[in-house]
Amino acid sequence: MNILILGGGGREHSLAWAVLQNPKCDKLIVAPGNAGIAQIADCASLNIEDGAAVTAFAEEHSIDFVIVGPEAPLAAGVSDALRDAGFLVFGPSQAAAALEASKAFTKEVCDAANAPTAAWARFTDAASAKTYVEEQGAPIVVKADGLAAGKGVVVAMELQEALDAIDDMFGGAFGAAGAEVVVEEFMEGEEASFFVLCDGKNALPVGTAQDHKRVGEGDTGPNTGGMGAYSPAPVLTDDIAKKTLKGIIEPTLAEMARRGTPYQGVLYAGLMIKDDAPRLVEYNVRFGDPECQVLMMRLGAQALDLMQASAEGRLDDTQVNWAEDHAMTVVMAANGYPGSYSKGSEISGLDALPEDSFNAVFHAGTSSDGARILANGGRVLNITARGPSLKDARDRVYAAVDQIDWDDGFWRTDIGWRAL
Ligand code: AMP
Ligand code: GLY
Repeated sequence: MNILILGGGGREHSLAWAVLQNPKCDKLIVAPGNAGIAQIADCASLNIEDGAAVTAFAEEHSIDFVIVGPEAPLAAGVSDALRDAGFLVFGPSQAAAALEASKAFTKEVCDAANAPTAAWARFTDAASAKTYVEEQGAPIVVKADGLAAGKGVVVAMELQEALDAIDDMFGGAFGAAGAEVVVEEFMEGEEASFFVLCDGKNALPVGTAQDHKRVGEGDTGPNTGGMGAYSPAPVLTDDIAKKTLKGIIEPTLAEMARRGTPYQGVLYAGLMIKDDAPRLVEYNVRFGDPECQVLMMRLGAQALDLMQASAEGRLDDTQVNWAEDHAMTVVMAANGYPGSYSKGSEISGLDALPEDSFNAVFHAGTSSDGARILANGGRVLNITARGPSLKDARDRVYAAVDQIDWDDGFWRTDIGWRAL
């Protein structure tokens, strides 16, 4: 099978790493990829948000299966273009990708599906949004409706913060994504992520994880794309997983099918858990990054079979072979991230690290000048390991981190603290 993966971050490096372990994979191309992916697969430069360009590329390279990593090509309809041309694709249609691309759409679907989530209201002008926020009081959550690279959510502990956020959003801080604003009830609890593969009808859980969104130790400082993750997340017990599947995911899939836009691909449910009950914070229509890295480390070669079964509509007779293992990934980021940072510093010591089915370094933002690996982004490396216990996985990860020589980088030393 000839496979094309779209994307070029740590998520796609881990997808490539897992796919290559499966003997079914004859050829793998990743577009655009990065310096780490280039060590294991062919990389191609390609505008991955251009459906016609991606389809032409897939035809030219005799691709059998396309795996879409990030949300942007899905929201741009790239999976529809590929499917129309007859390709097998892992990833939802543009219409179904609205579950991430529009927060108001997701809330409407949740209401129709009777899925527990925060109370909400939508606004297209600042004055009525402010009146509502003043009636409700703080804490309250203000969200730009559209895709805002993870930055369009303000959890306002004070009323003034919420009012300022409304002005920012309608003032154009997030461009078209802020033309509509969703205001939500503030939910308390512990957050965790639940990942299910979907084939339009059926849902198959492929793992739980907990991300660390804040930049600083002890979950302090500004929000980031994620500084580390581990799987499984003990807060997401079997009982909570069952309640999520029956009360949130399955009714969502039924509602999406009823609307004529069945959901196929991975559905990532961000949950708030309190008093043994899950509520939906948000859906994403892709794997999390860095959550994917720990899921791929645990799933290994079967990840390809599972994604293929999802794309082919065969999840009803597909199972996951679980091992009793735990995985962790730690993000090494460039000094200054999530603010401004510089690029081009050298990273050494990677060659000496173990690379096997228990240990991997996934590259997020790197480049190569031929001989050296250079930092080329905010989040740069994902040091990942698994073991029989979370503590074992953590010890392996941090032992590897200690061997990496990078003057311009930093990382959190407390990934997994809630579970440990
Ligand atoms: P989202 O992009 O919707 O996941 O929001 C980003 C983060 O904001 C989430 O991971 C939560 O930590 C927080 N958040 C979003 N919505 C709520 C809510 N209704 N109540 C409490 N926290 C929230
Ligand atoms: N790590 C959070 C996300 O991928 O949205």
